[in-house]
Amino acid sequence: KAALDADEDIKAVSVVHNETSTGVAAPIEAIGKVMKDYDALYIVDTVSSLGGDYVDVDKFGIDVCITGSQKCIAAPPGMAAITLSDDAWAAADKVDSHTFYLDMQAAKKSGDKNPPQTPYTPSVSLTYAMNEALKMVMEEGLENRVARHHKAAKASVAAVKALGLELFADEKVSSATVTAVKMPEGITDADFRGTVRDKYGVELAGGQDHLKGNIFRIGHMGNISYKELVQTFAAIGMTLKGLGAIEDAGAGVASITESYL
Ligand SMILES: Cc1ncc(COP(=O)(O)O)c(C=O)c1O
Repeated sequence: KAALDADEDIKAVSVVHNETSTGVAAPIEAIGKVMKDYDALYIVDTVSSLGGDYVDVDKFGIDVCITGSQKCIAAPPGMAAITLSDDAWAAADKVDSHTFYLDMQAAKKSGDKNPPQTPYTPSVSLTYAMNEALKMVMEEGLENRVARHHKAAKASVAAVKALGLELFADEKVSSATVTAVKMPEGITDADFRGTVRDKYGVELAGGQDHLKGNIFRIGHMGNISYKELVQTFAAIGMTLKGLGAIEDAGAGVASITESYL
């Protein structure tokens, strides 16, 4: 709000809803309320939240909402979805330096045809995969799916603490779809994630850039349930005990079972 008040030339505000690299969620509904008083477009990256956390595009006043196929929707990677409000279409109409593949007007012109078309060759196999994944989302129900993600996040946070590990993100802003954990003192990323992967068959994400080696990330987005979390926390517990970092290898698993009882 302060930045928008200080500069009336600001054309757009863009926010990443769910910071996948750190496990932090931004308050997109609250930011949307501020944005309603300004002409600037409100652009939200929901790549790792749509389908796993609350994203009510119209209610939150989002002008441009972008997501990917491969995260909470759980389709293969390679496809993006985008919504544009009337204001965003008006802005797109004023763009005269067109690209081809990302030309929104060309997409609209073809999409408005009956039946709808794409301006260029569509990825047919990915479209089938996305369609099937979205059917699964609708069968589960969006509310249920979001609640399931929140439950997995809460269970993961509790299990991390039960193992005596420290969360990277403040719990008040922690993500519904990925939990970032500080690497325990004296343990290297290669030893820890390498063992979790090679010995126990679970892939954890590492930190990026300056966080490389300092955190690891547990993804709980898409079609995951307590089963994957039990396996993941078993692998983490056994690895940390093997490396001499903790006493009780099963504390994380015990916590997951309590969370899902
Ligand atoms: C929040 C967020 N935005 C954008 C991207 C980029 O998505 P893609 O790699 O599909 O281009 C990612 C990928 O991990 C992401 O997590």
